[in-house]
Amino acid sequence: MLERARQLIQPSGRSNVPPFMVMDVMAAAARLETQGRRIIHMEVGQPAAGAPVSAIAAARAALSKSALGYTETLGMPALRRRIARAYAEWKGLDIDPERVVVTTGSSAGFMLAFLAAFEAGNRVATALPGYPPYRHILSALGCEPAGIATTAATRWAITGETLLNAHRARPLNGVVIASPANPTGTMMTASVLEDVIRSAEDAGITVVSDEIYHGLDYAFRADCAARFSPRAIIVNSFSKYFCMTGWRVGWMIVPPSLVRAVERLQQNLAISVPTLAQIAAAAAFDDRAELEDVRHGYEENRRILLEGLPQAGLDSFLPADGAFYLYTDVSRFSTDSFAFAKRMLEEAGVAATPGVDFDPQRGQNFLRLCYAGSREDMRRAVERIGAWLKKL
Ligand SMILES: Cc1ncc(COP(=O)(O)O)c(C=O)c1O
Repeated sequence: MLERARQLIQPSGRSNVPPFMVMDVMAAAARLETQGRRIIHMEVGQPAAGAPVSAIAAARAALSKSALGYTETLGMPALRRRIARAYAEWKGLDIDPERVVVTTGSSAGFMLAFLAAFEAGNRVATALPGYPPYRHILSALGCEPAGIATTAATRWAITGETLLNAHRARPLNGVVIASPANPTGTMMTASVLEDVIRSAEDAGITVVSDEIYHGLDYAFRADCAARFSPRAIIVNSFSKYFCMTGWRVGWMIVPPSLVRAVERLQQNLAISVPTLAQIAAAAAFDDRAELEDVRHGYEENRRILLEGLPQAGLDSFLPADGAFYLYTDVSRFSTDSFAFAKRMLEEAGVAATPGVDFDPQRGQNFLRLCYAGSREDMRRAVERIGAWLKKL
């Protein structure tokens, strides 16, 4: 009977997305920790700090005061207004709160954006290296991800020119851009961002801009796609700058023509975003000083790594413009980044993510290091990596 059930229930073809190798590194790190090893975690891209005090206080108060029922599908009006206000305060942009959609993290934002903007079979460009779920969500939804290999010459970003070249080779319907980007930490200058948006829109390609690392920009200020186009779909989140990964709350700014489509989709797919998380998120804006302290901590960590890693033996990385990632070339030591990460974990006690997660071919030569941990851990990581590489 069991055998028969096994035969009948087969996973769908669309569910066949690649796993995230970083999860394997995390599991291996956890195994070593149960054996008493002290591991420095630089594999997972999440802030070590928790949600701002104001967010936690608001959530506590809401727990005793409110029944926490569903909210409006597009999000609590007060939160949508607060998000719109932040664009005016931080970026000098006038965003209509009616265009703000609250989502369950930016991850749900991508699903809604892709469903609302693209048909099954549409081709959507993403940068390689790039955040793997862009490609995997697209393929699970029946769209075709089209990787564009980026290089140092364009600060590892898709440009108007590389986008149009890919479009001429095989027509594209959309493009996902990100600045600062994961895994590289690199950013697009305002002129590159403007150029890629204009080129895309002139060619009828819809732009989805992942701005989840805004606020964590060190080399120069990240600009917002909304400055250049009211048609770009902007995806953002409380996970990174606001240190609220586990609260699962994010937002989108969508063109007026897509608001109702996104609303209908979210009504059916989720009803609404968790109410407690929305209440906490609205209050998170009140703790700017606490969040800026965390950001300064990342800047200090970045300085420690940029100074220390070359002396330790890792001296080739992409410009660490923003987010909390360093993408480093390890081809001098190995052209199998998964095996290299595994060895570094076992022998040096430092967990990092192999580049193959982000770029199946060239990622064999790269590791991603996340510097969202403590300053002490960053110093220890430099020491451990240096001592280990000397022995290789
Ligand atoms: C570039 C990028 N976009 C989106 C996400 C998804 O984040 P969340 O769903 O927590 O908002 C992440 C998470 O690491 C990310 O690195």
